[in-house]
Amino acid sequence: MIIIAIDGPAAAGKGTLARRLAAALNLPYLDTGLLYRATAKRVLEAGGDPANAEAAMNAARALTEADTTRPDLRDAATSKAASQVASIPSVRAALLDYQREFGNAYGAVLDGRDIGTVIFPHADVKLFVTASVEARAKRRQAEFVARGEPVSLAAVIADVAARDEADRTRTAAPLIPAEDAILIDTTTLNADEAFAHAMAEIENKAAILERMAALKD
Ligand code: CDP
Repeated sequence: MIIIAIDGPAAAGKGTLARRLAAALNLPYLDTGLLYRATAKRVLEAGGDPANAEAAMNAARALTEADTTRPDLRDAATSKAASQVASIPSVRAALLDYQREFGNAYGAVLDGRDIGTVIFPHADVKLFVTASVEARAKRRQAEFVARGEPVSLAAVIADVAARDEADRTRTAAPLIPAEDAILIDTTTLNADEAFAHAMAEIENKAAILERMAALKD
């Protein structure tokens, strides 16, 4: 059973990379950000406050598959509210078992903020994917434009930077690289290059593990 944990700040290219790795390695893929986004959406649609612990925890506990597959989870308001609900420990606790069960069923590639530190601290491979805030904001802006939601680069930079700061400084599962994570900076890499780089790191890690197992025999 192989678990690949991919963590990193907003719009670093985790999703694209995780999806491609999952396809190449024939593993299921879970975008854990969708769990927090769907929780936030439920709270917002009920007219609640995403910073209210009880409302957010109840929304997280009531999540269904349909909530996480809706197409409108990526707008700016939901992104901000997702970061707010994600700082609440009872929300994270409510979503923990689902993530572990998903990974433990067949192995998986999971991307998020705390996969290598909290959800799967013994993951086979941990990648921490980053890029400069400008590079990340440009990619996120292109996604908004492609969806027909034009937005200024300055606004996206402000949103991404504020969310990173909130994710890094929260006390519950803050965004930090696991000690044994492999860092991948995608600032100057396109999607193909990031994938090739990550595959090389994974193959390298697999070769080291094989050599260690052989030494033990
Ligand atoms: O796509 P993007 O990188 O912008 O965000 P996302 O991965 O969909 O996550 C949205 C928000 O959910 C993040 O800003 C985090 O606050 C939170 N999140 C988290 O706390 N833990 C995770 N494992 C995944 C997301």
